[in-house]
Amino acid sequence: MEKLKFLTPELAEETRAKFGTPTYLYDEQTLKAQAAKALAFPNAFGLTVRYAMKASPNAAILRIFDRCGLQLDASSGWECERAILAGINPEHLSLSTQEFPARAQLERLQARGVQFNLCSLSQIETFGAHFPGQEVGVRFNPGLGSGGTSKTNVGGPASSFGIWHELVPQVRELAAKHRLRVVRVHTHIGSGSDPAVWQRAADLSFNMVRQFPDATVLNLGGGYKVGRMAEEKTTDLGEIGAPILQKFKTLSEETGRALRLEIEPGTFLLANSCSLLTTVQDVADTGEGGYHFLKLDAGMTEILRPSLYAAQHPVILLPRKPTGAAKPYVVVGHCCESGDLLTPSPADSGELAPRELPEAGIGDLCVIEGAGAYCSAMSAKNYNSFPEAAEVLLRESGELVLIRRRQTLEQIVQNEVPLR
Ligand SMILES: Cc1ncc(COP(=O)(O)O)c(C=O)c1O
Repeated sequence: MEKLKFLTPELAEETRAKFGTPTYLYDEQTLKAQAAKALAFPNAFGLTVRYAMKASPNAAILRIFDRCGLQLDASSGWECERAILAGINPEHLSLSTQEFPARAQLERLQARGVQFNLCSLSQIETFGAHFPGQEVGVRFNPGLGSGGTSKTNVGGPASSFGIWHELVPQVRELAAKHRLRVVRVHTHIGSGSDPAVWQRAADLSFNMVRQFPDATVLNLGGGYKVGRMAEEKTTDLGEIGAPILQKFKTLSEETGRALRLEIEPGTFLLANSCSLLTTVQDVADTGEGGYHFLKLDAGMTEILRPSLYAAQHPVILLPRKPTGAAKPYVVVGHCCESGDLLTPSPADSGELAPRELPEAGIGDLCVIEGAGAYCSAMSAKNYNSFPEAAEVLLRESGELVLIRRRQTLEQIVQNEVPLR
């Protein structure tokens, strides 16, 4: 059976008593330990670790990583502005975005020193027309991708992310037209990537660097696999980094260029640094040949990954009156949506896949583990008008600190304009 990652049952109960459920509880100690591991990524000529803030953009998390010496990568102009609001030095931000900022925002971010990874030919054209002669990064699709699921694979011909690797001549031409200096080559091939495919993509990225003589930085993106479930593997950064280190040295021997390495993890830093605390709010049973259901007071409004990707998250029940018995439970969310499942079939077949869990009842605490990355950040927010959950940080001192209040109904409707 799955176990709690950093919590104890007593601390889970204390958190519920103080803040209610559903509540995300982040662990400062795990966040810092993961940051330290990322900062130890093997490198030959310097390393910048950028936290992919899309994984969880709360200001408290950004500040913790900032103090650890991490910089940030943002996925939209809005994320950049959010990080700046949180007190992050804009020069420590890079932007790699599918939707290029509108002119006013673009000018604001450029003036503040945000670094741009241009992700399409039109982005190069727009940026170059506004800011000729600048230094830029370019994100390429190296021709192959790999993700934990097809929905998190962002490389190869089926992906719209980055500039297709065969378009290097067009990139060079556009850069020359606007006197842009391509100082950073960027690739990111997916989340939960197969380490072997990641290595091949890194090779292809080195080929790309050879075609941009001004490049001083190679950003190899994120995507490092993290085991949330006991049987899932976590990528060893030291292991995948070692062959890369050699490639940096070889390139330097061949060309005299000492390239700086950037990596951009989100999941690796966050996944197991947060637990989602929920309460069993109802039970249902569909009789002989049917299923036992546990209904939580959370669901796709807090953790969409199971519904979206059939992602597996540990579910830990903490019955107040343990019976010692276990039952095969299907754990479901609170939304009026049959797809709102916390325990989907790993094969994403749509069939129900009950899990053997301790017998539980209404009011029992249920902890969903591995809820740090792409959970609070990527929820079906306010569906069924459920308020956004609270976020709490467990400080290294043991103190529980609120880092985002639970939303109120007034906040949910505040932008609606009443009809006269
Ligand atoms: C450009 C970019 N960099 C880094 C990441 C982080 O990926 P992961 O959370 O899998 O490490 C993402 C996530 O999709 C991304 O789009």
